[in-house]
Amino acid sequence: MNILILGSGGREHSLAWAVKQNPKTERLIVAPGNAGIARLSETTDIDILNAASVVTFCKENAIDFVIIGPEAPLAAGVADATRAAGILTFGPSAEAARLEASKSFTKEICDVCAVPTAAYARFTESTSARAYVKAHGAPIVVKADGLTAGKGVIVAMTVSEALDAINYMFDGGFGTAGTEVVIEEFMTGEEASLFILTDGTNALPIGTAQDHKRVSDGDTGPNTGGMGAYSPAPVLTDAIVDRAMKEIIQPTIREMARRGTPYQGVLYAGLMIENGRSRLVEYNTRFGDPECQVLMMRLGAQALDLFLACAEGHLDQARVTWADDHALTVVMAAKGYPATYEKGTVISGLESLPETSSQMVFHAGTADKNGTIVANGGRVLNVTARGATLAEARDHAYAMINAINWPQGFYRRDIGWRAL
Ligand code: AMP
Ligand code: GLY
Repeated sequence: MNILILGSGGREHSLAWAVKQNPKTERLIVAPGNAGIARLSETTDIDILNAASVVTFCKENAIDFVIIGPEAPLAAGVADATRAAGILTFGPSAEAARLEASKSFTKEICDVCAVPTAAYARFTESTSARAYVKAHGAPIVVKADGLTAGKGVIVAMTVSEALDAINYMFDGGFGTAGTEVVIEEFMTGEEASLFILTDGTNALPIGTAQDHKRVSDGDTGPNTGGMGAYSPAPVLTDAIVDRAMKEIIQPTIREMARRGTPYQGVLYAGLMIENGRSRLVEYNTRFGDPECQVLMMRLGAQALDLFLACAEGHLDQARVTWADDHALTVVMAAKGYPATYEKGTVISGLESLPETSSQMVFHAGTADKNGTIVANGGRVLNVTARGATLAEARDHAYAMINAINWPQGFYRRDIGWRAL
């Protein structure tokens, strides 16, 4: 079949890598892709936020199946448009994607189906929000309702920090994403992510992961999109996953279907685990980045069969085949990230690293400059390895990094520490 993947990061490189291995794939195109993706598939520069352009491209290129990577095209209704045009699509409708695009919508769903999550209140103006924070004290969590590229959550350790966040949001700091604000109880415990595929009715857990959000070793420094990840997450035992499926995931999927807005695609549940039980921190309506890279390394070619079962509505007949393995990815970022950083610096040594089913350098932000790979973003490479144990996967990934020569890059040296 002819397959189109939308997106341009390490997540999409790993999706393309897995899909490409499946014999069902005849032609693979990624829009817009990056320099690493261009080595294994065709790429095209269409505007992936413009639903009409995506549909036109699919028709002109006889695309049979569209896989949507990031949240922005989902929120822009691209999955609605491709499905309406009769093209098989992996990814939720704009209405279902509100589970990520609106934090207050998710809280409302949690209330309706008694999903365990932090106690909260919603506000559309600052006076009552400020009064709520003063009444509840710190630590407390202030969240802009809408999509903010991961910047809209302030975990405030003091009341004054929370009040500043409220002012910033209602002063338009996050644009329209901050016209509504959710204020939540601060939850303690260990965080991990659970990934579920659903066709709207059936739910299939396909793996767990943990990431490292802080930029520096020891989980210190500013927050980032994620500096590394590993799968599985030992804290998410089978018993905790089973309970989360019953108490969190299945009720959410049933409620979305009951509303006439069934959720189809991957549901990424951020969970806080404490005393053998998990509570929902947030939903994302896409794979995590870099969590996807470790999941794809473990699933390989079967990922495409699972995505198809999801889109075709027969996930009840699908099975995940597990190797008893572990995968770990280390993000190499441009010095300065997550603040300002240089673009265009040269990366060498990649050609000495064979691409196999147990090691891959996924490209997150690269460009090809006359045959040379150069940095073209903050997070640039995802050095990913698989092993029989997490320690083996980690040692393998760090050995790969030794072969990469990029003086303007940096990486954390302790990815996986919590689980090791
Ligand atoms: P979110 O975008 O909702 O995942 O929030 C980003 C991060 O903020 C999460 O991964 C958590 O580390 C933290 N966070 C969000 N909500 C809470 C909460 N209620 N209690 C503690 N930490 C939270
Ligand atoms: N790595 C976190 C995310 O993709 O949201």
